Amino acid sequence: MASITPTIRPDHVPDARVVDFDIFAPPGAEEDYFAAWKSLRGGLGLVWTPRNHGHWIATRGAIIRELWGDSERLSSEALAVTPGLGEMMDFIPLQLDPPQHKPFRNAVMRGFANHHVTAMMPMVRDVSRDLIAGLAPQGGCEFMTAFAEIVPLHIFLSLIGVPVEDRARLRPLGQQLTRPDGSMTVVQLRDAADDYLRPYVEARISNPGDDLFSRILSVPIEGRAWTFEEAQRMCRNLLFGGLDTVVAMFGNIASHLARFPEDQHQLREDAARIPAATDELMRRYPTVSVTRNLVRDIEMDGVTMKVGDLLYLPSVLHNLDPACFDAPETVDFDRGLSPVRHTTMGAGAHRCVGAGLARMEAMVFIEEWLSGIPPFGIDPDRPAKMRAGNVGALTELYLKW
Ligand code: HEM
Repeated sequence: MASITPTIRPDHVPDARVVDFDIFAPPGAEEDYFAAWKSLRGGLGLVWTPRNHGHWIATRGAIIRELWGDSERLSSEALAVTPGLGEMMDFIPLQLDPPQHKPFRNAVMRGFANHHVTAMMPMVRDVSRDLIAGLAPQGGCEFMTAFAEIVPLHIFLSLIGVPVEDRARLRPLGQQLTRPDGSMTVVQLRDAADDYLRPYVEARISNPGDDLFSRILSVPIEGRAWTFEEAQRMCRNLLFGGLDTVVAMFGNIASHLARFPEDQHQLREDAARIPAATDELMRRYPTVSVTRNLVRDIEMDGVTMKVGDLLYLPSVLHNLDPACFDAPETVDFDRGLSPVRHTTMGAGAHRCVGAGLARMEAMVFIEEWLSGIPPFGIDPDRPAKMRAGNVGALTELYLKW
């Protein structure tokens, strides 16, 4: 997304807090998204950028962690720094604030209960194995299109109980979401997703099965049934929340294992370490940043942020802050992250409902990839490319084995 003309600094933003930082194009993000964000780290915990209509950015881990869970002073309604995006998407539960948020969140959480996630494991394994069997003889691949973008789509379709042959219809939407090429506006993308989902939402309301949508929609909201409009907003949230993010996570895990052969070797030798390694890789490579709009003034770090201001919370500056995690850039499979303290999946009332599913997908992917693909590295002739945004991700990752 293009950077826009800088906004004039409001009076309550001190000069010393102004930085020129475009979250869609931080300097050097194409080569290294994580390093690009680190360039913002300095003495100040809260800075303000005139880019993208002007917003605050929290840059210190402790502040990010604290404000992420603050539903008293911060609302999730705005969704993003892109004007109008929040109104257009109107996600349930993501854009609802407590107390309205709670009954919807409970219903969605019921749908993602652990035993449902565990029951999906064989399917995730089969999809991964099939793809890997086709890739192994090729000696290399562009990982994002050949694997990372395919598996989450497939899983989403199975979750909602739709024939996986439908993948061809949904894939272009997934691609636009992951790598927008300007051919579709966000409105067109939302409408296309809604058009795709509509018949399934209608069917799951009138004739529930045992798929994810049916499970969620069968949980009453304060004693009444979901309306069609609420159901659509929830299904849209799951579609948009669970594709791009998982694609990005797969890319970062593959990239790490390709760049650190000794870590790859450790996991090949001892598969029992894969669950802990998954947690650590998810901490080390956070991709999501969220936007909150202030509903009360906040005095912090020597400044006052005002009602109506937008605040950007990047998980990368929390998880990679040495004041929050020892040697944060080192991947240490023995880090022992229980209970989870990082913000890769958020924190507080909106913490990701798909966290268990995403973790399971990552574990199965690592297990299956390492057992089906010989030792691999990055193709030295084709350096990896990344893009920034609310979900930072690799866009090209050529692997060789
Ligand atoms: C590695 C993959 C994933 C990452 C990094 C991720 C990250 C996040 C984060 C950071 C939040 C909190 C947002 C906020 O505080 O505003 C969140 C919420 C959410 N995620 Fe995920 N997510 C992932 C996978 C998934 C999957 C697979 C699904 C579902 C299919 C999903 C559905 C949701 C939903 C519905 C919410 C809103 C929860 C609420 O508002 O109560 N996510 N996710």
